[in-house]
Amino acid sequence: MNPVESERRVLSGMRPSGRLHLGHYHGVLKNWTKLQHTYECFFSIVDWHALTTEYDEVGNISGHVMDMAIDWLSAGVSPSSSTMFIQSQVPEHAELHLLLSMICPLSWLERLPTYKEAQEQQRGKDLSTYGFLGYPLLQAADILLYRAGVVPVGGDQQAHVEFARDVARRFNHLYGREPGFEEKAEAAIIKLGKKPAKLYNKLRQAYQEQGDVEALDTARALLKELQNITIGDKERLFGYLEGGGKVLLPEPQSLLSDTSRLAGLDGGKMSKANSNAIYLCDSPDAIEDKIKRMPTDPARVHRSDPGSPQNCPVWPLHEIYSDTSTCAWAAEGCKSASIGCLECKGPLIEAVQLDLQPLQLRAAEYRDNPDLVRHILAEGADRARVEARETLAEVRSAMGINYR
Ligand code: TRP
Ligand code: SF4
Repeated sequence: MNPVESERRVLSGMRPSGRLHLGHYHGVLKNWTKLQHTYECFFSIVDWHALTTEYDEVGNISGHVMDMAIDWLSAGVSPSSSTMFIQSQVPEHAELHLLLSMICPLSWLERLPTYKEAQEQQRGKDLSTYGFLGYPLLQAADILLYRAGVVPVGGDQQAHVEFARDVARRFNHLYGREPGFEEKAEAAIIKLGKKPAKLYNKLRQAYQEQGDVEALDTARALLKELQNITIGDKERLFGYLEGGGKVLLPEPQSLLSDTSRLAGLDGGKMSKANSNAIYLCDSPDAIEDKIKRMPTDPARVHRSDPGSPQNCPVWPLHEIYSDTSTCAWAAEGCKSASIGCLECKGPLIEAVQLDLQPLQLRAAEYRDNPDLVRHILAEGADRARVEARETLAEVRSAMGINYR
């Protein structure tokens, strides 16, 4: 696979740490269900990542994996459009993690903001472990194993994708420089045939001498089209465009998903850690109860006190669930104190119940048929493994441990 194809490949992962809530649904899952129609998508339930912090509560992990798979499926992640799998069922993740650990400077891991922060947050638990320090590298391996170019993540994970880019670059730098690279690249150019070779040289020159990025794109498109050259030569020619060595592991880009849109019921982030969230599996009564009990703009102490939607944790729900006229009604009524908060919440209760209803029907079907879910995950792992093995074969041979 070459870097251009990698731009059409998505990988993302989620830790199996409990049932998913509306924040996951609107912030992440809906985005995934859109991406799966235009990209080749790999979505992983990253159980090894759960172990990096939950190593002392392992009893729940398999249940959480199942719950998460059902939540994904019922939210519309489709096993025929995307590949969903459990990370530990593709042990190649561990091998790539190990191999990358040889070249990953400790300081890169130590300086990641998530490292110290998380250690401070999880007070009472010892997170000064080897596994926890290395989890961003495991994440880098998750991504690079599939040579995914696009990684949808929330803002808190962007530094990790950046880190994965650094690791890929270092890997390419160390191992993409085969002896005689330039000679091999020049020979590959000749093999292209007269016309394409001339064009390639012209575009490469335009990029290297004038920094013409369009020329770089055109040259990549040209290479992508070519059928009659080997993968090795293709990688060389991709690398040669930019001057370096072979691009063995393409650098991924993050695709920011807006997870901040839905704050928690009390205005904090809707997190799994507390029950401050509407779960996808909440019954209509639970939804009604939770919305009714949501705090509102603190300025509205009395029914007659005007409020402002911008200060109200309920408002983001209107932004997602209400049409323009309902939004206008709520905003006006709030600012003029002509409606009460319970009244304002009324349409939301119904809208959320209706939104989750089809999802819950699907979830019930999967819940009644756990073997189907296991089958989907096993098939996903099979598909993922094919891609993973292809990458690993190249990584092994680049690192000199290919014995065939
Ligand atoms: N570390 C991510 C999180 O805590 C989960 C994750 C693991 C991930 N591997 C990944 C996300 C690969 C994107 C790509 O949310
Ligand atoms: Fe919030 Fe609506 Fe009450 Fe205003 S009227 S404070 S928007 S719940």
